[in-house]
Amino acid sequence: MRAMTYRGPYKVRVEEKPMPRIEHPNDAIVRVTTAAICGSDLHLYHGMMPDTRIGSTFGHEFVGVVHEVGPSVRDLAVGDRVMVPFNIYCGSCFFCARGLYSNCHNVNPNATAVGGIYGYSHTTGGYDGGQAEFVRVPFADVGPAKVPDWMDEEDAVLCTDALATGYFGAQLADIAEGDVVVVLGAGPVGLFAARSAWLMGAGRVIVVDQLEERLELARTFAYAETMNYTEHKDVVVELKRTTGWLGADRVIDAVGAEADGNLVQHVTSAKLKLQGGSPVALNWAIDGVRKGGTVSVMGAYGPIFSAVKLGDAMNKGLTLRANQAPVKRQWPRLFEHMRSGYLTPHDIVTHRIPLEHIAEGYHMFSAKLDGCVKPLVVPGGE
Ligand SMILES: NC(=O)c1ccc[n+]([C@@H]2O[C@H](COP(=O)([O-])OP(=O)(O)OC[C@H]3O[C@@H](n4cnc5c(N)ncnc54)[C@H](O)[C@@H]3O)[C@@H](O)[C@H]2O)c1
Ligand SMILES: [Zn+2]
Ligand SMILES: [Zn+2]
Repeated sequence: MRAMTYRGPYKVRVEEKPMPRIEHPNDAIVRVTTAAICGSDLHLYHGMMPDTRIGSTFGHEFVGVVHEVGPSVRDLAVGDRVMVPFNIYCGSCFFCARGLYSNCHNVNPNATAVGGIYGYSHTTGGYDGGQAEFVRVPFADVGPAKVPDWMDEEDAVLCTDALATGYFGAQLADIAEGDVVVVLGAGPVGLFAARSAWLMGAGRVIVVDQLEERLELARTFAYAETMNYTEHKDVVVELKRTTGWLGADRVIDAVGAEADGNLVQHVTSAKLKLQGGSPVALNWAIDGVRKGGTVSVMGAYGPIFSAVKLGDAMNKGLTLRANQAPVKRQWPRLFEHMRSGYLTPHDIVTHRIPLEHIAEGYHMFSAKLDGCVKPLVVPGGE
């Protein structure tokens, strides 16, 4: 089968790989019909994620058709159209029983923090991902769901991560009626977080980024006010100014460890790898939120950090909430909002890339060329 493979930082290509096999009775093999490239894949592509092995296949957002099922699979049958959450999880451990699907204890022998994620390095279990013609789906009765008849293919693929994560980011922000919510980052996660914030009662939503085409989407798609951080000497002062000098009630970090905006942090993290990433956005969140406020961290971070303003967070009485999104937990609510017409995830899709051209897709998305906000990947597409 054809699959995207990692060849080292900034190098990916499509290769012939062996067909995935049923390895456990509850596995399914899914023929991928649409996948996506996530901002998280860029951390892998840039060589920021430890233990990303040559030859591995990325892709944790995908939908497809069941091609084969193991002997114990009960809920899926060959031919079913399925959407697969990016989390791999057992459904029955201590953590899964508490809805912490992204922290499953049974699926990742390499860590006790994060559970399993498709195509996301051996730090999340070493599973191959869905930027391929076929993918092995473990615990087929647990994670995947049949795509509802009314749901469009592109909406379904966005439910497997970006939309669910943005919504979860707004949920974790503890938004109360009338709150001023700041979203750092206007990528897919930030845009969906901003749009979701209104559902939770936000009174003002302000999205911060430096890319004008994304800020435009923040205004038109997420109905938010916007702030281009390159236009301000100090974005935190600007956030304070616009919130009566108190700071925002809630800040959502939808940027993560590759944040721009501070040269020293950028060089010590992305270039010299002296720390697990740049905490610029996280620190803007800690500084920009009011005392007693909440910071919701959706941006991905590696384990080791220096220069995070934890003392300020402590002394301001902040609540810091973070996790990889437990995707399936969000689906019932997301589906209601999609059926009612409020959430229209496919609106942010800008590119549809044939799998064979995925290297160009990664380059374009990484370099933010051609107004690329959300690229989908289509196996067999031309
Ligand atoms: N928690 C989860 O479950 C989960 C799931 C998906 C993605 N993520 C993470 O969320 C983050 C965003 O994902 P995405 O797909 O939207 O990525 P993306 O790369 O498309 O978007 C990130 C945006 O942040 C902007 N940015 C950079 N530095 C900034 C700064 N200092 N302040 C404000 N904006 C800044 C960039 O210009 C870009 O538009 C990534 O770190 C990704 O790994 C987490
Ligand atoms: Zn992702
Ligand atoms: Zn589990």
